[in-house]
Formats: sequence, structure tokens, C-alpha cells
Amino acid sequence: MIKTLEWTDEGVVMIDQRLLPTEEVYPIFKTYEEVAYAIKEMVVRGAPAIGVAAAMGVALGARNITAKDAAQFEQQFQLICEVLAGTRPTAVNLFWAIERMKTLYEKLKSEGLSLAEICVRLIEEAKHMHEEDVSINKAMGTNGATLIPDGATVLTHCNAGALATAGYGTALGVIRAAVEAGKKVAVYADETRPFLQGARLTAWELHKDNIPVTLITDNMAGHFMKAGKLDCVVVGADRIAANGDVANKIGTYSVAVLAKENNIPFYVAAPISTIDLNTKTGDDIPIEERPQTEVTHVKGTQLSPEGITIANPAFDVTPNRYVTAIITERGVARAPYTESLQALVQGA
Ligand code: MRU
Repeated sequence: MIKTLEWTDEGVVMIDQRLLPTEEVYPIFKTYEEVAYAIKEMVVRGAPAIGVAAAMGVALGARNITAKDAAQFEQQFQLICEVLAGTRPTAVNLFWAIERMKTLYEKLKSEGLSLAEICVRLIEEAKHMHEEDVSINKAMGTNGATLIPDGATVLTHCNAGALATAGYGTALGVIRAAVEAGKKVAVYADETRPFLQGARLTAWELHKDNIPVTLITDNMAGHFMKAGKLDCVVVGADRIAANGDVANKIGTYSVAVLAKENNIPFYVAAPISTIDLNTKTGDDIPIEERPQTEVTHVKGTQLSPEGITIANPAFDVTPNRYVTAIITERGVARAPYTESLQALVQGA
């Protein structure tokens, strides 16, 4: 299995996703500031993976604190959480993971554990979240595989695979589970401009797993849908609002609209931690704006003239009416999403 990230005594080891597929390099991030850098610069990316990375960053930061007393420890602990929370705004898993670590810290503090004991437990929790994410993805895969017909060709956008999680993947987990169930499945992967997660990461992962993959540029999806080459779409999500609106990689909305026009089911696979009941609709989801150079340059080569205006929103929001179903580890939600998502979230 691909190792996206791993806790070691020295720090957090992550595959540098910026260099894939041509270089497979595993740097080690030894401080929470370095982990924050890795999340912001997209060494590690994908909603569940950045959640686990942030939890490991909190644990690492706490372990490295040198404080003279509990009050000073607490001040530094809060700073660590703030810095990690300030890295990327859209994927709610980041905030969910940090909150989980903070809640554990408060609980252990109230139980009177020593700072050293608290640090040990924070590390255990971050490691546990890593393992838990893989099991969640497998359960999601089992729930979603039933929706993929034998012989299907599935379109996916961005990378919602092992690299975007602690392992196995969300959207690609559904595809992997369908393959493991004995179905013949082929994938079309959108290249996903501007960061090229589809071309660089999804194609790499699927090819490594011997799952047939055809790489297309983003503007080809409609053509292949109209030509009858695609049977369904499965994507991941960075945040799902209470009403079922889905924030995911920029370009997802266009794919969803095209899918509806062509009567193709559009599925979203995401863990319960991606569902944000505190965000009422997609309009309330903050959309990250990333550096202009991601649009103007490819691997250091400039593509566009100097001095022009550039926009680079990293995500878009697909309104719930385009979403056929949302696949989670606890089951499959369908419209009306306000009710079905709430039932899944509360059915812990
Ligand atoms: O900017 P990225 O690469 O972090 O965006 C990732 C996506 O949009 C994924 O589709 C999403 O996080 C789901 S990953 C299981």
C-alpha cells in the first residue's frame, strides 16, 4: 500500500506529492512548523490526509514544547493549533482533526495527567487517527462498491485516492473495493488543472494498482459523456455542507453539471468528518485562493504573458441537486440531504 504519511519518533514522514510521479521522495518533518509548511505547500494534500497530518503536527509540536509550567505549555499548545489551522481554509477535516486533539488535551488536563503523559496520549491519538482513516475508507469502499456496475467506466476528478488519505482512498477506495469485489472497472481521470492531481497522482496510483486508467484533460469530460463512454462519476469532497452542497477541487462543479445533462450518476465519497453540519449551505464554505504561479507556470515554465490578471480558486461548490448520492463509512445518503446527512452524522 502507498505510504502517504507516517509517524516516526523523529517526526512525520510524508511522500512529497509535489514531485510525483517522476520522483518518489520521503522527507521527514521534525517540527510542527515544518508540518504546517508541508500542508500549506501541498507536500501532503487531500482532505483526510491533511487532517491526519495536522493531528500529527499537534502531537509533534506538543512533544517538542519546553515550558516552565502548565500555563506556558497551554499557551504554546494553542499557538501550535492556530498555526496548523491557518494552513488551508476549505477542507474541514483539518479543523475537525485539530479540534479532536484539543478536546483530548482538555480531557486529559482535567483528569490531572502530567504534561509528559498528555504528550504520549496525543501521539497515540494521532497514530490512531491514521489507522482509523484507512478503516473508514475501506468501509466507505464497501458501501460504495455496490453502486458501481460490473464493466463500468468511472470518471474521477482530482485525486481522492490513497495519496489524499492515510491509505486506500475515498473515491478511489470505492473503485478499489469494486475491483476487489471482482468487478471489471476502468477509470477516466481528469488531469485537474492547475495542480494536476489527476495527471500526476490519480494516474500514478491506479497504474501502480493495475486498474485501467485513461488520462484526459479537463475539457474532454463532456465529450466522453456524450459519446456514452462513461457510466458514472465518483469524486471526493473537502467539505459537505448540511444541505448536501459539496466543496471539492475546482472543476468538480462543471463535471457534475455535465453528468446531469448526460443522465450519468454523480457520486461523492467522503468520510463523516468531511460533513460540516455547522455550515448550512455551500455559499458559507470558504474557498482557498492559491498562488497565481500555479496557473501561469508549469514546472517552472511560464505559459502566459506577464502583467495579466490571474484567478486561482482551488475549490468550487457543487449544489446538492447535482449529487446523486453521498457515500460515507456509515452508509449512503440521498436527497433530501439535510435529513439524510444529519441522520448519518448523529448515528455514531
Ligand atoms: O487541493 P487538494 O489537492 O488538497 O484538493 C483535494 C481534493 O479536492 C480532493 O478531491 C478532496 O480533498 C477529497 S480527498 C479524499
